[in-house]
Amino acid sequence: MVDSLKKPAFEEIRPGVKAPAKETILTPRFYTTDFDEMAKMDISANEEELKAILEEFRADYNRNHFVRDAEFEQSWDHIDGETRRLFIEFLERSCTAEFSGFLLYKELGRRLKDKNPVLAECFTLMSRDEARHAGFLNKAMSDFNLCLDLGFLTKNRSYTFFKPKFIFYATYLSEKIGYWRYITIYRHLEAHPENRIYPIFRFFENWCQDENRHGDFFDALMRSQPQMLNDWKAKLWCRFFLLSVFATMYLNDLQRAGFYAAIGLNARDYDMYVIKKTNETAARVFPVILDVDHPEFYRRLDICVENNAKLAEIDKSDAPKLVKFCRKLPYYLSNVWQFVRLYFIKPIETASRQGVVL
Ligand SMILES: [Fe+2]
Ligand SMILES: [Fe+2]
Repeated sequence: MVDSLKKPAFEEIRPGVKAPAKETILTPRFYTTDFDEMAKMDISANEEELKAILEEFRADYNRNHFVRDAEFEQSWDHIDGETRRLFIEFLERSCTAEFSGFLLYKELGRRLKDKNPVLAECFTLMSRDEARHAGFLNKAMSDFNLCLDLGFLTKNRSYTFFKPKFIFYATYLSEKIGYWRYITIYRHLEAHPENRIYPIFRFFENWCQDENRHGDFFDALMRSQPQMLNDWKAKLWCRFFLLSVFATMYLNDLQRAGFYAAIGLNARDYDMYVIKKTNETAARVFPVILDVDHPEFYRRLDICVENNAKLAEIDKSDAPKLVKFCRKLPYYLSNVWQFVRLYFIKPIETASRQGVVL
């Protein structure tokens, strides 16, 4: 065999253990927060709903769901080349995102235990779910002869600090967008089973219900803290988080359109649908949502997609660092400008939609 063919497609920290992907503004983040402020929170304004959600978590509907069956036991070498690379990347990104949820929820469960037992138990039970999700994805990676060292990841990733209210906006959205992402892939493959190239997608239906319940928990938690939702600052921040979450997903997915094509999906159509549904869902709790049907919305996001393609091209060249930076600068500035313009598209007030099930 020619030497270059033997070279693994990914960098490894040990044989079979993949080096974590380089952290960028678009990779899944790890979060930490002000645990004392969280512990002091008075949830009495919505305690009944939170207790009902806790009962749901305790019921543990997916206790026996994440069990690998016979369909996994075969060679996956026929998924090769670029599709294999994109597939492993999808598994890694999903695993990292799930694991990041696990770490945050587990720590919150631990720190709130004595001061806020209802919240603490909710967080602990959500961390149970996320551990299952991350473990299942990591096991899937091992079907491709790789896995992630999650202990290494815990120690070596940088953690982003967010105050509790920002943690709530961000995790609420990531749970709900996770729900829409999984259910949309599941429904598509249910209608087109010929595109289901790997069995993990069969698990997405029950899996996404975990994410939906997690999202509902943050919905109820934010309602227990009306000051987080009802002033002008809340409106500005909700817009910011909606836009950040949507733009990050869109830029990531369009860069990896080949993965979605491999399962018969058009990445752009898929993302537009997921963004529309998540935005509608967020109207149940956020004071404003984005006008994603505004003609500028996808026009500007598409400019960012083009900018990112140019940035990647420059990165690949052999030019000296400083030259590269100067060539990249206009594209960075353009991205910032698009983001600012997107942010100032008039949002949609949601007061009339609150409490409506979407
Ligand atoms: Fe999850
Ligand atoms: Fe979740």
